[in-house]
Amino acid sequence: MGGTLSMKEIIGKSEPMMEVFKMIRLAAETDLSVMIIGESGTGKELVARAIHNASIRRKGPFIPVNIGALTPDLVSNELFGHERGAFTGAHAQTSGAFERADGGTLFLDEIGTMDQKTQVTLLRAIEDKAFYRVGGKDLIHVEVRILCATNEDLQAAVQKETFRKDLYFRLEGFIIRLPSLQERKEDIPLLAREFLHEYNEKYKKNITEFSTEALDLFVNYPWPGNVRELKNVIQRAVLLTPRNVIIPEYLPRRFQQKSVPNNKIVFDVGTSLGDAEKTLIIRTLKDRKGNKTATAKILGISRRSLYNKIQQLNIKV
Ligand SMILES: Nc1ncnc2c1ncn2[C@@H]1O[C@H](COP(=O)(O)OP(=O)(O)O)[C@@H](O)[C@H]1O
Ligand SMILES: [Mg+2]
Repeated sequence: MGGTLSMKEIIGKSEPMMEVFKMIRLAAETDLSVMIIGESGTGKELVARAIHNASIRRKGPFIPVNIGALTPDLVSNELFGHERGAFTGAHAQTSGAFERADGGTLFLDEIGTMDQKTQVTLLRAIEDKAFYRVGGKDLIHVEVRILCATNEDLQAAVQKETFRKDLYFRLEGFIIRLPSLQERKEDIPLLAREFLHEYNEKYKKNITEFSTEALDLFVNYPWPGNVRELKNVIQRAVLLTPRNVIIPEYLPRRFQQKSVPNNKIVFDVGTSLGDAEKTLIIRTLKDRKGNKTATAKILGISRRSLYNKIQQLNIKV
């Protein structure tokens, strides 16, 4: 992902996304800290980049740090850098994300996972616009805007006192909530077509469309991994599809299995009466734990005709 990303690259025409676009524009006009809240894969980093690129800091650096991917020791090191000899293995002085973001934007992803000690240091760095490198004695001054993202309710963490209240209020100057993909189903075909186009070019294929069935499956799927999951599903389908239309066959298994509750039977049109009857008898027998009297009663036939059908239809009991 390059630094040229703009709001045009955030796809969505749904009501909740229109609200997001409005908030991005407002956030870009200010220099306040912004907290972006949304489930994983909803586009939090994309939004952070869009805010940076629309702000007066656009010519400055955009430095993302995923706090959730680092151990507490590494977080301080990554954010503030270290002096030579600060710890075993610190052979050279290194600058951290705060220094690299000077004049630009620092994006702290998964801020909710930050340990208490680093929270204190971060708050001080934000308030003083200055910090020490790990093992350092010189105060380093920077001019950085902080954007952060979280997929959990930080207010609950503040209540439980695992997240500092003062830091929370410093970070939530502006809050942008990203809707899950399930909350904006009308954007699914739009996103799907965009990613199809993207991967079609990338892999030099000749795939032009999705079948109606494939698109229906997309719209009805709950997408727990949100846009990231949709993107991956389409990448895979583009790679696997030999023709120019993506059909359900080229989607992962979770899309093939029609989820049918186990007290229901679903038949395709085109099923023979014999097959339907056989399935119904097998399933009722199973449900009644093999009891033929009970099964016959439910099916509305005599025990004798149940036995006949079991034999005729070659049902194993
Ligand atoms: N509205 C959107 N339009 C286009 N691509 C999107 C959108 N939302 C997310 N994506 C893409 O989905 C993936 C996950 O987005 P990301 O910003 O990393 O999510 P998060 O940080 O919330 O986990 C990225 O490849 C991103 O480009
Ligand atoms: Mg992310």
